[in-house]
Amino acid sequence: MAGRILIIGACGQIGTELTLKLREIHGNEEVIASDIREGAAELMKSGPFEILNATDEPHIREIVEKYQIKEVYLMAAMLSATAEKAPMKAWDLNMDSLFHILNLGKEGKIEKIFWPSSIAVFGPTTPKDKTPQTIIMEPTTVYGISKQTGERWCAYYNRKYGVDVRSIRYPGIISYKTLPGGGTTDYAIEIFHEALKNSAYTSFLASDAALPMMYMDDAIKATVDIMEAPAEKIKVRSSYNLGAISFTPQILADEIRKHIKDFKISYEPDFRQAIAESWPSSIDDSVARQDWGWKHEYGLEKMTTTMLKGVEESLKENANK
Ligand SMILES: NC(=O)c1ccc[n+]([C@@H]2O[C@H](COP(=O)([O-])OP(=O)(O)OC[C@H]3O[C@@H](n4cnc5c(N)ncnc54)[C@H](O)[C@@H]3O)[C@@H](O)[C@H]2O)c1
Repeated sequence: MAGRILIIGACGQIGTELTLKLREIHGNEEVIASDIREGAAELMKSGPFEILNATDEPHIREIVEKYQIKEVYLMAAMLSATAEKAPMKAWDLNMDSLFHILNLGKEGKIEKIFWPSSIAVFGPTTPKDKTPQTIIMEPTTVYGISKQTGERWCAYYNRKYGVDVRSIRYPGIISYKTLPGGGTTDYAIEIFHEALKNSAYTSFLASDAALPMMYMDDAIKATVDIMEAPAEKIKVRSSYNLGAISFTPQILADEIRKHIKDFKISYEPDFRQAIAESWPSSIDDSVARQDWGWKHEYGLEKMTTTMLKGVEESLKENANK
């Protein structure tokens, strides 16, 4: 056995689809899913699963040895909106879990690490449009501070100890298979559910809150591609900017209205509006495109039709249960 893959936080919005994709590529038994809770039936049935707390260092070591793990995808984290409600808990989870995995890399116990960063590393002093790879970063959320700090530690472990850690600054990820986990961009998923159920949605962000977004399949493709790229192509060892689509709640509502004519949107911005205002509106990801060939496939139209179809099917499935 050459070495298996461990996904920590596998039952979340991204982890679920990432696990299924990696199992398709490498074989079900080669990809060990883990989380502090059980996840979707499709994930649980398709291969090995362990209950694992990302802050429990001895248990992580045990699992790494038990399955001869060589690659870790650390997806467990407390996301932007939830983290504002529990800052110290978010800091502990987001940082401790990263150190546990980086140290396993330093000791040579694992060979490759994926750790996701976020557009939350940017702040109100960052230029908002086409935000470049290298620019001022003064995040104002605890989540953003944890991701920015994490990026610096990834770069440090790579430079100092040769740890092969790779990272992407995900924008808001849009998908229908697993519900989102408490981020500021969750409105762009809720809107599809409410449009199909009630033809109406009240957005917690203002009509003109433009944010960088990406359909899940593109996010998974980027994750697989950056991990498969030859090490010498990964020149940025903090984290790569990654972009696809950028839109406001109003633009998304107009696009949905092309399919659901009587769809109505209203706006009641809450604390998440201030977070959105501190983030970029669009991202310049030319460095990722140049270094390891990143290219997105889903634009606004394709994402919208795919989401409407997917959410409609999942609503029907749930109704039949
Ligand atoms: N979804 C997005 O739009 C987005 C955008 C930018 C970055 N990211 C990053 O991508 C990663 C995955 O995000 P997601 O959207 O799938 O998050 P999510 O909240 O949907 O999933 C996180 C998973 O981690 C698990 N978890 C929480 N605490 C844990 C612990 N102590 N030990 C083990 N597991 C634990 C949760 O049960 C959950 O299944 C995170 O690092 C997040 O910051 C996500």
